[in-house]
Amino acid sequence: MKHLLSTGDLSRTEAVRILDTAGQMAATQSREIKKLPTLRGRTVVNLFFEDSTRTRISFETAAKRLSADVINFSAKGSSVSKGESLKDTALTLQAMGADAVVIRHHASGAPHTLAASGWTSGAVVNAGDGTHQHPTQALLDAYTLRRHLTGPGDASGRDLAGLRVAIVGDVLHSRVARSNVQLLHTLGAEVTLVAPPTLLPVGVQSWPAEVSYHLDEVVGSKPDAIMMLRVQRERMSSAGGGFFPSPLEYTRGYGLDARRLAALPEHAIVLHPGPMNRGLEISADAADSPRAVIVEQVANGVAVRMAVLYLLLAGEQRHDSDETKVDQ
Ligand code: CP
Repeated sequence: MKHLLSTGDLSRTEAVRILDTAGQMAATQSREIKKLPTLRGRTVVNLFFEDSTRTRISFETAAKRLSADVINFSAKGSSVSKGESLKDTALTLQAMGADAVVIRHHASGAPHTLAASGWTSGAVVNAGDGTHQHPTQALLDAYTLRRHLTGPGDASGRDLAGLRVAIVGDVLHSRVARSNVQLLHTLGAEVTLVAPPTLLPVGVQSWPAEVSYHLDEVVGSKPDAIMMLRVQRERMSSAGGGFFPSPLEYTRGYGLDARRLAALPEHAIVLHPGPMNRGLEISADAADSPRAVIVEQVANGVAVRMAVLYLLLAGEQRHDSDETKVDQ
């Protein structure tokens, strides 16, 4: 694996290897000294052209916990506002010796362009591109599902075969949904997408997922997990709006509230990638309930991103030196 651009590029073996490595990374994070020397002397550049809280901070934390040097670049306040291109920005950062570039961009395909261009010699990690992909989010979601739903003890080696996951809401604009559908399918889970017809993309029937317009029916079918998607109002307003009649009607049809939460099976967990629109796609009851693993998803994101950076930058050397072993 040279880059991580899409969950569609991951074989089952590669995905399981990342999840297993994340488990090893997580185990190191309960120690008094959390820092590993694994990426000492390496440089990770976080290149964010679009806003982020969780992804940016957790990639920074992950790189630092692996002892990498970290350069944080945010388009706001940079020469991008003077018209500098992705190419010239990437070449500038390459001049500083980036071993990995973590990129979030509003344009779908920007990480692929960067990886194919030769503007950087480093590994490219997609941290979310337009409505296209967010592979590390899907990996941390799979890691969270694995921890909660695949039995007691060490989760290593377990897959998600047969788990039933409902993904609900603004599928149309969601790179999280696209990444999750592909990864969960690769790992053997069964996915049902639930949304109003206006928030489903053209061609969704060809995705490896069932499609429903009726949340109450899907909740009644007793899924193991329900993943609520953020209503992406910023992408809707730029498209002229009109995706649903009113916020209240959206909430009635597709929001997770106390009634729907109570109708889920006892073991079912509630996920949300964040940031949440409380009161729109998820009520405070649901977001703050003991079934919600939303804060844990954020913590798991650090372990998963440590695993991704480790496998991209040090995976080949893992047997060369005791220093590179994560289970030291
Ligand atoms: N889930 C997610 O990508 O959140 P941020 O936009 O805060 O990074």
